[in-house]
Amino acid sequence: MKSFSRYLVTAALPYANGPVHIGHLAGNFLPADVYTRYLRANKKDVKFICGTDEHGVPITIRAMKEGVSPQEIVDKYHHIIDKSLREIGISFDIFSRTSNEVHHQTAQDFFKKLYDKGLFEEKITEQFFDTEKQTFLADRYITGTCPKCQNDRAYGDQCEKCGSTLSPDELINPKSTLSDSVPVKKATKHWYLPLQNYEPWLKEWLLTEHADWKNNVYGQCKSWIDNGLQSRAMTRDSQWGVKVPLPDSEGKVMYVWFDAPIGYISATKELTPQWSDYWCKEDTRLIHFLGKDNIVFHCIIFPCMLKAHGDFILPDNVPANEFLNIEGEKVSTSRNWAVWVDEYLKDFPGMEDTLRYVLCANAPENKDNDFTWKDFQDRNNNELVAILGNFVNRAFVLLHKLCGGKIPAFHLDQKDDLDDRLLQQIIQAKNEISDSLEHFKLRDGLFKVIDLAREGNKYLQEKEPWKKTDQQMAVDNCLHMTMQLCANLAILMNPFLPHTAAKLCKMMKVVDRMLDWENAGSLKLLSKGYPMNAPELLFRKIEDAEVQAQVEKLHAGSVDANSSAGSISHDAPLLAPVKPLIQFDQFDALDLRTATIIAAKKVPKADKLLELQLDLGFEQRTVVSGIAAHYSPEEIIGLQVTVVANLAPEK
Ligand code: MF3
Ligand code: ZN
Repeated sequence: MKSFSRYLVTAALPYANGPVHIGHLAGNFLPADVYTRYLRANKKDVKFICGTDEHGVPITIRAMKEGVSPQEIVDKYHHIIDKSLREIGISFDIFSRTSNEVHHQTAQDFFKKLYDKGLFEEKITEQFFDTEKQTFLADRYITGTCPKCQNDRAYGDQCEKCGSTLSPDELINPKSTLSDSVPVKKATKHWYLPLQNYEPWLKEWLLTEHADWKNNVYGQCKSWIDNGLQSRAMTRDSQWGVKVPLPDSEGKVMYVWFDAPIGYISATKELTPQWSDYWCKEDTRLIHFLGKDNIVFHCIIFPCMLKAHGDFILPDNVPANEFLNIEGEKVSTSRNWAVWVDEYLKDFPGMEDTLRYVLCANAPENKDNDFTWKDFQDRNNNELVAILGNFVNRAFVLLHKLCGGKIPAFHLDQKDDLDDRLLQQIIQAKNEISDSLEHFKLRDGLFKVIDLAREGNKYLQEKEPWKKTDQQMAVDNCLHMTMQLCANLAILMNPFLPHTAAKLCKMMKVVDRMLDWENAGSLKLLSKGYPMNAPELLFRKIEDAEVQAQVEKLHAGSVDANSSAGSISHDAPLLAPVKPLIQFDQFDALDLRTATIIAAKKVPKADKLLELQLDLGFEQRTVVSGIAAHYSPEEIIGLQVTVVANLAPEK
C-alpha cells in the first residue's frame, strides 16, 4: 500500500444551468462530503474542491430557453447551488466557478502546453452552420425528424422519444433551432486529442494498476478501452467558453469537458498558494467523486490530458456511483421529475440531516437505487427518531432524573458482562465504520452507527436503571456507560450527520475537538461530575400529510410527457403479438437464473447485437443478446439480468 501525505477530494462540478437535485447529492456531493469529513476527523491534510461548471451547450441552451444571456444564467445558478449545498452541509474548502479569470488562465496554459508538445491533431471537418445567424451549430441546436421513429422533434445528438443516439447528418429535414433555417455544411478546423495513442498506457495504469476500483467503474472503463479509443475534438465553434489560446482561433473555445476538470486545478490555485503540493506531489491522494455519466471523462479523458501535460498527479480512485431514481422513475430535469435541494431545505427546515441520512442509506453505490417519500418518512421515523434519537433522549432524561444531570462515577468492582459487551461493541463499530468509509461503503458505515444506537437501547432495556433506584452504584455504572456511548455516537455519526453531531456536542457541553476520530472507542470522553445540558430532541417525527404533500408536489410539478413541452415517447409503441400458449411443464423446464453483466461489447457487423460476459455465480458465460439498439455496452455493466441457463447453444 502506498502511503499518502495529503488528500485532494473532488466532487464533479455541477452545471450552472439549474438548481441541484437529490440525485446529485446522493451520487456525488454527499459521498465526497462524508469521506472528507472522515479524513478531517482523522486529522488528515485534505482539500475538498468543487465549483460550478459554467461553459458548454447545457448553459447556452438554458439561456436560450429563459431568453437571457449565458452570463446571467451562470450567475443566477451559481449562487443558488452554492447556497443549497452549504446549507445541507457539504463542507467544500472552496466552491469556485469556471468563469473565474484564474480558471481561464489555467485552462489556456494547459491547452497551450499540449499544443506546444505537438500532442493535438488538427483536423478540418464539415460542420453544420446557420447562415442566417452566422454561427456553427452544436448538435443539440439542430432538430429534425428521427430516422428511426419519425419523431419530428429529435435533436442532432439524440432522439428522446426512441432513445437513439443520432448525429445531425441522420436527421430528416434538419433545422436550426436558432433561426429555423436549414443548416448548411461548412468546413471548420479543430484540435483533437488522439486518445488511441494513450491506449497502451491506459491499459497499464487503469486496467492493471487500478484493478481494485469499484466494479461499476472498472467495467465501464474496460468496455470503453476494449471498444477502441479514438481522437476526440477538444475544441468547439462557439462564443461561450474558454477561448482557444492560439493565433487565428477566433470563434473557437475549448470543449467543456476539456476545461471543466481543469477547474479542479484552478479552484485549488484559488484556495491556497500551496496548490502545487496537492497537484504535483506523488504523495497526494487524488480522489474524484461523481455519478456514472461522468466516468469516462474522469477515468479516461482527463487522465489522458493529465498524462499528456506531465506536471500533474493522476487520480488514485474514482468511486463513482450509479443513479438515484425517484418514486421508481428516472430523474428528469426537463420533465421536472426531481426533488430539488433548495426546495427541500425550505419545506423541511432544520432537517438537513434527515435528507443526508436517507440519501446515504439509499446511496446508489453499486446499482441504481430508488428514493421514495414513504421510505424517507419510514427511515426518519423508524431509524432516526425511534432508534438513534430515542436512545440519546432516554440517556439524557435518565441522567437528569437518576444522577442529577452529572456524569456519574464508574465503580469498577461492579462492572459486569453487559458493560464489557457494550465496550466491545463500541470498539468494533469504530473499526467497522472506519473500514467501510475507507472503502467508500457509506451505507454499511451508516447502518453500523444505527446498530450501535440500537445496542444502546438494548443495554438500557437489560439494565433497567429506573428500577434500581435503591442501588445507586448500579445506576451510576449504567448511566456512565450510556453517556460514554452518546459521546462515541457523536463521533461516529459526525461524517454522515454533522448537524446532529454538533447538536449532541452542545448537549454534552463539549467542544468540536472531541469529535476527532481517535477519541472514538474510549470510555473516557466525559469525565465524572461533568454536568450535561438538558436534552433537546435530535429528530422529529414526519407526519403522513407532509410526505403526501411532497408526492403531490412531485406529480403536480412534473411536465406531463404528453404535453407539448415533453419530449418523451407517448404514442403506444407497436407491440409484438403474444406467442401461442405453453404448458406448465414447458415453463418448468426453463432454468432461469440471475446473472451479472461483467463486460459488454458490440458485435462487429451486427448492429442489433451485444456480446455479454455474464457471471452466473457458479460460472461465467458469454452470450449474445439483441439489445444493441436499446443499450450501449457502457451503461449495462454491473446490471443484473435473467438468463435461461439451460438453453442449448446455437450458432
Ligand atoms: N458538469 C458536469 C455534469 O454535471 C460535470 C463536470 S465534472 C468536471 O455532468 F470534471 F468536468 F468538472
Ligand atoms: Zn426516434
